[in-house]
Amino acid sequence: MEFCVMKLSLMALATWFACATPVSAQTDSAAPDNGNFDVKQLFATTCGWCHSDGGRAAGKGPQLMNTTRDDDFIRDRIKNGKQGAMPAFDSTFSDAQIDQIIKYIRELKPREG
Ligand code: HEC
Repeated sequence: MEFCVMKLSLMALATWFACATPVSAQTDSAAPDNGNFDVKQLFATTCGWCHSDGGRAAGKGPQLMNTTRDDDFIRDRIKNGKQGAMPAFDSTFSDAQIDQIIKYIRELKPREG
């Protein structure tokens, strides 16, 4: 009887491991800083209604593609906005996320076709 209980709890433990391992493996492989941050998606939903065509064209805001601004300027503009022009995103994004937005802007290319 005692053996039986022991075996059961071992099985429970084995099951626990079997379930727990893939979950933690998944968490490890995701980038810790930005989770499922999709910068393209974010830009389209959050910035796109002012910076048109993913930042490729001017809208309410200026075109961002081929910007001559440096990283600090862009970071500052995203964080602090500009009164009467662009909202301040302040702590909406982590620094790592802003890095990705800057990278996104720098990598913008005209659409093909
Ligand atoms: C409500 C409209 C609006 C939204 C939303 C908006 N912006 Fe802007 N943005 C502007 C305007 C207007 C300017 C020009 C400000 C100025 O006169 O310097 C600007 C300027 C900028 C600049 C500086 C460009 C330059 O060369 O001076 C960057 C970079 C920028 N925005 C990035 C973003 C990002 C990234 C987002 C989304 C997280 C965003 N903006 C959302 C309106 C907007």
